[in-house]
Amino acid sequence: MSVPALEAVNLAKSFGGVRAAHDVSFSVPGGSLAALIGPNGAGKTTLFNLVTRLYEPDAGEMRFYGRPLAGLPAARIAALGLVRTFQAARIFPGMTTLENVLAGAHLHVRASAWRQMLWLPGARGEERELVRRADALLDLTGLLPFRDAAATDLPMGAQKLLEVVRALMARPRVVLLDEPAAGLNDAETAELGSLLRAVRASGVTVVVVEHNMSLVMGVADQVIVLDTGAVVAAGTPAEIQKNPRVIEAYVGKEAA
Ligand SMILES: Nc1ncnc2c1ncn2[C@@H]1O[C@H](COP(=O)(O)OP(=O)(O)OP(=O)(O)O)[C@@H](O)[C@H]1O
Ligand SMILES: [Mg+2]
Repeated sequence: MSVPALEAVNLAKSFGGVRAAHDVSFSVPGGSLAALIGPNGAGKTTLFNLVTRLYEPDAGEMRFYGRPLAGLPAARIAALGLVRTFQAARIFPGMTTLENVLAGAHLHVRASAWRQMLWLPGARGEERELVRRADALLDLTGLLPFRDAAATDLPMGAQKLLEVVRALMARPRVVLLDEPAAGLNDAETAELGSLLRAVRASGVTVVVVEHNMSLVMGVADQVIVLDTGAVVAAGTPAEIQKNPRVIEAYVGKEAA
C-alpha cells in the first residue's frame, strides 16, 4: 500500500456547542478523486479549513503524503502542493481574468525576484510559458472569451471556474474544491466534470465538496458522506447510492 495523498485521523473541531467535526477519519489515495458530500452544515467546509489549517483542530491529525500538517502555516501547506478553492469564489478585484489566473502561479515561479525585476530572458520565458498554460486552461474551461475582462464582472459560474483554473496554475499535488459547480449551468457543469477527469488523469489528486449528485456520482472514485460533523459512510458511488444511512441523512433532511 502506498502512502495516501491525504489522510485525516480522528479530526475534531467544535465552535461553542456545535460539533462541526468529530472523530473524522478518511484517506484519499494519490491520483484519485474523492467527493465529500452531506447536507448543509454537515461540516464539509470545516474539514477543508482544518486540512488547510485555516482552523486549528481540537484533536486529530492531517497527513499530506504521510507528512503531518500540524503546526505548518497555511502558506507553507499551499507551497507543499495542497491547494484549495473557496465556497464563495475569491476573485482578486481590479484584475482581469488572465491576471487572476496568473496569480495562482506565483507559488511556482522559479525565476528569482531579482531576475524578474531586471526582466532577464529566463524570467521572460517563464512568464510566456505561464501565459501559455493559463490560456490553455481558460480555453479548456470555456473562459477564454473572458480572458481580458475584469474578473469581478464575470458571471458567478465563470468566477467559480476561474478559481479552479487559478488553483491548477499552482501545479498542486492535491487540490481541494469547495462546491465548484455552484452557480454553473448544466453545460458548464458537464465541462467541469471533464476538467476534473482531466486533472485526475494528469496525476493530481482531487477532493471535491459538491451538492450536484450527478456530477459527484459521475466522476468520483470514492464518496465520503458527512452528517452533523461525522463520517456516516464512505465508498464507491454505487455503494453510496444504495446505503440506507446516506439516504436517511440526505432524503430525511431535504424532506424536512
Ligand atoms: N467559524 C465558525 N464559527 C462558528 N461556527 C462555525 C464556523 N464554521 C463553521 N461553523 C459551524 O459548523 C457547522 C458546519 O459548517 P460547515 O460550513 O463546515 O458546513 P458545510 O457542510 O460546508 O455546509 P454547506 O453545505 O452549507 O456549505 C455549522 O453548524 C456551522 O454553522
Ligand atoms: Mg460549505
